[in-house]
Amino acid sequence: MGLSVRMLVAIAFVLTQLVHGALCWGKDGHYTVCKIAEGYFEEETVAAMKRLLPESADGDLAAFCSWPDEIKRLSQWQWTSVLHYVNTPEYRCNYEYCRDCHDSHKHKDWCVTGAIFNYTNQLMSASENSQSIVHYNMTEALMFLSHYMGDVHQPLHTGFLGDLGGNTIIVRWYNRKTNLHHVWDNMIIESALTTYYNSSLPLMIQVLQAKLTNGWSNDVPLWESCQLNQTACPNEYASESIDLACKYAYRNATPGTTLGDDYFLSRLPIVEKRLAQGGIRLATTLNRIFSAKPKLFRL
Ligand SMILES: *[C@@H]1O[C@H](CO)[C@@H](O)[C@H](O)[C@H]1NC(C)=O
Ligand SMILES: *[C@@H]1O[C@H](CO)[C@@H](O)[C@H](O)[C@H]1NC(C)=O
Ligand SMILES: *[C@@H]1O[C@H](CO)[C@@H](O)[C@H](O)[C@H]1NC(C)=O
Ligand SMILES: *[C@@H]1O[C@H](CO)[C@@H](O)[C@H](O)[C@H]1NC(C)=O
Repeated sequence: MGLSVRMLVAIAFVLTQLVHGALCWGKDGHYTVCKIAEGYFEEETVAAMKRLLPESADGDLAAFCSWPDEIKRLSQWQWTSVLHYVNTPEYRCNYEYCRDCHDSHKHKDWCVTGAIFNYTNQLMSASENSQSIVHYNMTEALMFLSHYMGDVHQPLHTGFLGDLGGNTIIVRWYNRKTNLHHVWDNMIIESALTTYYNSSLPLMIQVLQAKLTNGWSNDVPLWESCQLNQTACPNEYASESIDLACKYAYRNATPGTTLGDDYFLSRLPIVEKRLAQGGIRLATTLNRIFSAKPKLFRL
């Protein structure tokens, strides 16, 4: 009693903003990762997109890459919110699956890398054996995998537990008050769009695609390969992320700092490369899943 509607709306707004700060790459980041991936899909993967995605997507994965962010606030999906990130202990610049991949109740596998293994395995077993009873919803598995593959490439999605991956580090981005996590999810991309790309996301994506066939072309095969020829290797990506978080994201970004040109210009290349790597790795993972030939002599 006593709380006016206006007050409730205001509280809801503040909560939404707070929760929003804890999201992963913003909508633009996820769209970019998935759009880049689409350019590298093999034929079987393109066919799988048409089969699995909701009809309104018209086979365009990028249209549904932010779905896990859109639903995670609904009560029936709240359990998925811990699957967007993994934290390392205070000031540890390395990542270890067994030490780090759990939720706050120490449930093993409840983190972004665990979720990538989970949804890769679900899609693999459905793809390898179409006769088997499918226990899970493969549309959801595809949307989760595509989203989390983007998240694991955002350096502060493998950040320190103490500051919740930069969420509690309040900084200024030029003259706007925000937190360090949000800077890496949204602000660097936003500033790049207005500074270099005439506020056009398609233009930014085109430039990244061009870099993939020119400047980065020698690196792409390395980005594609997984140690031990696994279908997915999220542990490698999380290790890279915490390393970049320590070297670039946290550096010179203590609470109360104003981040401006120096930070923006030196960190933007990192963000661009992580978006591109996320796209390449999503594509190769999906290609491995959907072009997997049935194993005839499986026991
Ligand atoms: C794996 O996926 C299923 C289906 O969405 C879900 O019920 C389960 O909690 C997931 N586990 C992890 C660790 O992601
Ligand atoms: C699979 O999940 C999607 C997204 O949640 C939903 O729209 C669809 O109805 C589900 N399909 C089945 C067969 O439950
Ligand atoms: C920038 O975008 C606006 C529309 O948003 C367009 O009218 C203008 O021509 C664009 N400028 C350049 C240099 O592409
Ligand atoms: C990975 O696959 C390549 C090519 O199929 C093969 O030459 C190599 O031995 C494999 N490596 C491992 C560790 O299985």
